Amino acid sequence: MYKIAVIPGDGIGKEVMDATLHVLEAINVEFDYTFADAGDEYAKISGVPLPKETIDIVKNSKACLFGAAGESAADVIVKMRQELDLYVNLRPVKLYPGTKCLYDNLDFVIVRENTEGMYIGQEEYTDEGATALRVITKKASDRICKFAFEYAKKTNRSKVTAVHKANVLKKTDGLFRDTFYEVAKNYPEIETDDRYVDATAMFFITRPQMFDVIVTTNLFGDILSDEGAGLVGGLGLIPSANIGEKHGLFEPVHGSAPSHAGKGTANPSAMILSAVLMLEYLEENNEARRLENALIEVLKEGKVVTRDLEGTASTMEMANEVRKKLEN
Ligand code: NAI
Ligand code: MG
Repeated sequence: MYKIAVIPGDGIGKEVMDATLHVLEAINVEFDYTFADAGDEYAKISGVPLPKETIDIVKNSKACLFGAAGESAADVIVKMRQELDLYVNLRPVKLYPGTKCLYDNLDFVIVRENTEGMYIGQEEYTDEGATALRVITKKASDRICKFAFEYAKKTNRSKVTAVHKANVLKKTDGLFRDTFYEVAKNYPEIETDDRYVDATAMFFITRPQMFDVIVTTNLFGDILSDEGAGLVGGLGLIPSANIGEKHGLFEPVHGSAPSHAGKGTANPSAMILSAVLMLEYLEENNEARRLENALIEVLKEGKVVTRDLEGTASTMEMANEVRKKLEN
C-alpha cells in the first residue's frame, strides 16, 4: 500500500486526474490517496495558491500525482520543486501510435538538472545592460548524473549521453562533463558519450534514434525537452516526473487548458503516462508496463480517443477504454 498525495488543481487538471484515478483502479497495486488543494481556484477561496498543509501532505506521502495549476503555476509547481528538493526533471521522448511524429520509432529520456544552472534567479542590471549568474556545483552535477545512470540501469537502457557546452563554458560545463565521466566509472556496463548542446539540438531532428538517456544542465534541459515534445507531437501526450532524494511528483507537461476545461475534451494520456512514471518510481515495473501497453492499444486502435487525436471520445470515455484493456 502506497500513500499517494493527489493534487487535481485547476481546469482540465481535475478532469485528467479523475480519469487517471479511474484507470488506476484496475492496476494491481494498492494506493492510499490523500487529496490536497492547490491552484487558482483554491487561492480564490483561501488567498494562497499553495497552503502549507498541501506541502505537508506531499512530504508525508510516498509520491504525488499533480494535475495542473492555472495562472498560479509558478507559485505552486516551482515552489513545490524547491520545498521538496525535486532536483530531477525527467521527460520521456517516446513515440506512441496514432499520434503525429516525424519518425516511426523514437524512445529516449531527458534527465534535466532542476535546481541550479541558469535558473537560480540571480540577475542584475549593470551599466552596460544586465548579467545572469550560472551556477554549476559538484554536488548537484554528481547527483543528477548518478540519477541518470541509476535510471538507465533500472529501465534497461544501455547508453547515457551528457549534453553540455564545455568548449565555451569551460569551467561550469567542464565541471559537469568531468563529473559525468567520474560517475560513469561506477557503471561500466552502460555505454557513455557526451555532445555539445547545439549539435544535440540538430541531431534531435536528423538522427534522434542515437539517444537513449540524456543528462544535462537546467537551461539546456528545458529547451531540449520542449524540442523533444515537438518531435513526438501534442501536449496531451507528454508526462513528466520531478524527483528528489525523498519525494517524487508526477505531472503532465500541459497546464489547465481553460479552453477545454469543463467540456470533457481533454486528452487523459499525459496524466495516465505520468502515473506510469510514478509506477516506475515505485519500482512497480510490471504494472507500469501493463498500464502503458493498455494505453498504447487504445491509441493504436484510434477508436475511443479524444479530439486532439481526431476522435470523438470524452476524457472519461477514453480512460474507461484504457481500463477495459487492463481488465481483459
Ligand atoms: P496549456 O498546456 O494549458 O494549453 C495549451 C493548449 O494545448 C491548449 O489550449 C490545448 O489546445 C492543448 N492542450 C493542452 N493539454 C491538452 C490535453 N490534455 N488535451 C488536449 N489538448 C491539450 O498551456 P497554456 O494555455 O499556455 O496555459 C493555460 C494555463 O495553464 C495558464 O494559466 C498556465 O499558467 C497554466 N500552466 C500550468 C502548468 C502546470 O501546472 N504545470 C504548465 C503550463 C501551463
Ligand atoms: Mg519549459
